[in-house]
Amino acid sequence: MLDIYMPMMKSAAIISAGRLGLFEALANGPLELSLLAEKIHSSPQGTATLADFLVAVGYLEKQGEFFTNAASTQRWFTSVGQVDYTPGLLWTQEAWSMMGTLSDAVRSGAPEQTLWDTMVEKPHLGQLFASYMGAFALDLGPDLLKHVPVAPRHLRLLDLGGSHGLHSIRFCQRYSHLSAVIVDLPSALMETGSTIEKLQLSDRIRMSPGNLLDHDWGRGLDLVFYLSVAHNHTAEENRLVIQRIGESLNPGGLLVIHEYLAETQLSQFHAAFRLTLLLETGTQIYRHEDYSNWLTTAGFTSVSRIDLDPREKGSLILARR
Ligand SMILES: C[S@@+](CC[C@H](N)C(=O)[O-])C[C@H]1O[C@@H](n2cnc3c(N)ncnc32)[C@H](O)[C@@H]1O
Repeated sequence: MLDIYMPMMKSAAIISAGRLGLFEALANGPLELSLLAEKIHSSPQGTATLADFLVAVGYLEKQGEFFTNAASTQRWFTSVGQVDYTPGLLWTQEAWSMMGTLSDAVRSGAPEQTLWDTMVEKPHLGQLFASYMGAFALDLGPDLLKHVPVAPRHLRLLDLGGSHGLHSIRFCQRYSHLSAVIVDLPSALMETGSTIEKLQLSDRIRMSPGNLLDHDWGRGLDLVFYLSVAHNHTAEENRLVIQRIGESLNPGGLLVIHEYLAETQLSQFHAAFRLTLLLETGTQIYRHEDYSNWLTTAGFTSVSRIDLDPREKGSLILARR
């Protein structure tokens, strides 16, 4: 039972800390209990019980009467760290109750309702998911800039399933000759327009809401992003989407796929992700050979794979027309 009880309590405590803003309250330095409790608008008794547990599992440290964030907590769950994954904690609060229906999805082999349909009924979920994906995008952004070669003749970027828009924004900020179109479901684009506007990029980045499976995104493209979107589709859908991307790209155009690739022996992380997909979208992750087949059939010539570090960050597949 310890294997069940302890992970549950660890998740519950870390999510609660995220929701209460406890890690952020400690971002600028150690606090003693009464001040910490005051900052997170909580009882001293409750705060002490939560904080003591977080010390026990290594998320906080205690020096005398003062609590402080552990180095990795400061790095991953505060606004002064490398990337603030607090939106991931808020999303996990929602995912937790969905996980209660996992056995039903296992029994039937698919979710009763996909995540995207649930988001239409509960729009706040779309917003929450997009901001969680936004945190991932901040983490992945430097890898993309490093590995994706954008030539001066690459003018038009299509960002399929572009959600928060942060990848398009990063590339348009780096390459002043680039303009972008973001295609995603309306539920994922709720905050995107205002982000683009705030950064004064409205003249170069446009949103085109819709389902990418039947969306007319046009032709004459130079760069297409298909980032963490293939795992939300079936193999046949991906084959067709990649075929259509191939037809839309100019000669010399580049397709960039970011994915978690299935290996013969699944890692714990990949196996967990596949189980999540069974529940959320009824889809799965695919092998590098699957992508290679879809790409070569669609007329792509050079296909290269880059495994990111750490491996949990996934892989990039770059393919040229
Ligand atoms: C895992 S998120 C990735 C978001 C973003 N590309 C990134 O890398 O951060 C998958 C995105 O694909 C979008 N998506 C899934 N199926 C779609 C479809 N059929 N048409 C358009 N967008 C879709 C979702 O709404 C979501 O924003």
